[in-house]
Amino acid sequence: MDVISVIRTKRDRGTLTREQIDWVIDAYTRGEVADEQMSALAMAILLNGMSRDEIAHWTGAMIASGERMDFASLARHTADKHSTGGVGDKITLPLAPLVAACGAAVPQLSGRGLGHTGGTLDKLESIPGWRAALSNEEMLGVLRDTGAVICAAGDGLAPADKKLYALRDVTGTVESIPLIASSIMSKKIAEGTGSLVLDVKVGSGAFMKSRDDARELATTMVGLGNDHGVRTRALITDMATPLGGTAGNALEVRESVEVLAGGGPADVVELTLSLAQEMLTAAGFPDADPSKALADGRAMDHWRRMIIAQGGDPYAELPSAREQHTIMVPASGILTRLDAYAVGLAAWRLGAGRARKEDPVQAGAGIEMHAKPGDPVTAGRPLMTLHTDTPEKFAYAQEALEGAYDIAPQGTEFAVTPIVLERVV
Ligand code: URA
Repeated sequence: MDVISVIRTKRDRGTLTREQIDWVIDAYTRGEVADEQMSALAMAILLNGMSRDEIAHWTGAMIASGERMDFASLARHTADKHSTGGVGDKITLPLAPLVAACGAAVPQLSGRGLGHTGGTLDKLESIPGWRAALSNEEMLGVLRDTGAVICAAGDGLAPADKKLYALRDVTGTVESIPLIASSIMSKKIAEGTGSLVLDVKVGSGAFMKSRDDARELATTMVGLGNDHGVRTRALITDMATPLGGTAGNALEVRESVEVLAGGGPADVVELTLSLAQEMLTAAGFPDADPSKALADGRAMDHWRRMIIAQGGDPYAELPSAREQHTIMVPASGILTRLDAYAVGLAAWRLGAGRARKEDPVQAGAGIEMHAKPGDPVTAGRPLMTLHTDTPEKFAYAQEALEGAYDIAPQGTEFAVTPIVLERVV
């Protein structure tokens, strides 16, 4: 087999055979196919697409490139959630301990932020002492003892995807439904969860900008999961505006703890409960009542145990940024739009995110939003507070927020968009 014939097949809109796919993924993982050849193939796939069978084989080859984890030794059913990424998306933090409190085991392999979307591991690392890197044995131990674990994926899991995703990131080939679906699902299937709920985001702050694309991505991933024996379902959820009232690492941990304490922003609570119900039903606990576990403190108990088991101090004060700058409401009325992408970009510019994967992030940096679309606002009152350790970035962040919100006169009719837009099973 030679790589040029594989590239030509896809360049000329042909269908890759199972043999071609197995060979190219294996040869790329071993370093026999060069980055420039794989990036030509990725671009051909982005431009010409893949059939359902090709996506299934591609995913299978990426799973086979590394190890598969196995949670069969656990007495509990396993349930995981994956979000395609958004702004202010802190849901994993309250969700994992909540679902564990209701009886399922939650092995949550998470990622770091890149670009305008935040990463769960960066958020949790703002808790003093907390560790993201666990061996497979440590991960199983935390899961067995506390019911939930949130950690980084080990190097042995779908190594083909690790290499390919880093390449796609720098060659303009991320935005391909077959490549995104196979990338996410190869990791989730290799992780060995019994059931999986996908939170497919749509809107300015998400990869998928249109509802049709989000539906196609959700349907493709649900099909891949179920074909591999993982009970999979998806919710398509709104990412036109940020989730909750904060975007940034420690700011989002604080807000998540408020949710676990029975408070927190209504949209974060609603999405956490919707995803918890889906996970619990998929894992065989259809009668569990996650709202009760949130209200009676069981979810908070599980959170504290999970953080302690990974070296963190759940009672420690979280870091704050050295400087704050408040943006005031320019005119009274109703806030009708607050753009998720612009807020994510501004938080990233303040230091909450990274430009390259080896860059550090600031734990305290980010944005607090004092109003959500639909809220009345008063001229001269705070609209957003920007937080950073590097105040020279304020102007750069403010530039990202220009034109990011609309205020309509008081009395204007305004319908709030629901968080959960569609369910795909
Ligand atoms: N997240 C992934 O893991 N892979 C993609 O391709 C896109 C988002």
